[in-house]
Amino acid sequence: MDDKAVAHPGLAGVPASAGAPGLAGASGELVGAFGSVGTSGDAGCAPGEMPRATDGTAVDFDGIRFTYDGEAFVLDGIDLSVPEGQFLCILGGNGSGKSTLARHINALLLPDEGQVTVLGWSTDDPRCTFDIRSHAGMVFQNPDDQLVASVVENDVAFGPENLGVAPDELQRRVIEALGNVGLQGFDLRETTALSGGQKQRVAIAGVLAMRPRILVLDEATAMLDPRGRKGLMRLARELNEQGLTVVMITHFMDEAAQADRVVVLEVGRVVADGDPDAVLSDPARLESMSLDVPFVASLAVALRKRGVDVAVHVQPDLLKEELCALRSSR
Ligand SMILES: Nc1ncnc2c1ncn2[C@@H]1O[C@H](COP(=O)(O)OP(=O)(O)OP(=O)(O)O)[C@@H](O)[C@H]1O
Ligand SMILES: [Mg+2]
Repeated sequence: MDDKAVAHPGLAGVPASAGAPGLAGASGELVGAFGSVGTSGDAGCAPGEMPRATDGTAVDFDGIRFTYDGEAFVLDGIDLSVPEGQFLCILGGNGSGKSTLARHINALLLPDEGQVTVLGWSTDDPRCTFDIRSHAGMVFQNPDDQLVASVVENDVAFGPENLGVAPDELQRRVIEALGNVGLQGFDLRETTALSGGQKQRVAIAGVLAMRPRILVLDEATAMLDPRGRKGLMRLARELNEQGLTVVMITHFMDEAAQADRVVVLEVGRVVADGDPDAVLSDPARLESMSLDVPFVASLAVALRKRGVDVAVHVQPDLLKEELCALRSSR
């Protein structure tokens, strides 16, 4: 884990001010270990206050530049606005800046130039850090960087507990979130004795239990088996349909094909931005961006080479419809 990152996906670095009595009390003991970043301010961003009215923008990156070493810009002029309720996928080769960008969403990193605004709150205002992290939950690739308690239920309860959620409600949320990720009955299991994929699900459950308005998944499906990956994708879509904004970083093109919008990064710059059909259906362009062609698009390309007159889509249903229409027109 890099030096600027912190351990808990959601409330890392947030003060324990709002902590309610924990499930078995264990997670509360861990809170103090993270120190205090976003102390409550006298104006604007009291902990737990409802977000100020926004213009419907979940996250706004305005002219972001960022360097780790003071020399090379890892993010080099990002202008990107994510509307509330959008399902955005961020793609790009290794080292293109995806994780660095994601870490700007919940103020784990702050830009050297430009401004990041989350639900109307600027990430460079420390008084807003609590609110930003309360509403923008983040799940990373490596679950070992994210689990904070030795027992599953305490880990899942950690985030909402620190938002001041009452014990009864906390219990409900933990059970629901574990159910959402397919870990019913795992509440009392030791986190260290779980497989990587199970740990990842616990980390995701911990973020879901906070009921965030924005969910940032940074290669969060990388450790899941194909069934787990599909399940998480389905869950993310369902939550998105209920209004959750999803920012998903993935190397799986078939996941990206299901997003509302796809953004491709290359050396810290946005090189493509549009709906999946527009961005992911041109094999030559994808290759130039070091990306694979989604399965459905490559199937359509292969069919076209054999004289079947279908458009190159990335959505399986659209290709299926076209093939059915062709068949019935014969
Ligand atoms: N803590 C750090 N200190 C210094 N440089 C870093 C740090 N973290 C990342 N970098 C560098 O910043 C660049 C972007 O890294 P980042 O992790 O954002 O890429 P990424 O697109 O998420 O890649 P991947 O697909 O491999 O996860 C890389 O060149 C990387 O080496
Ligand atoms: Mg990364």
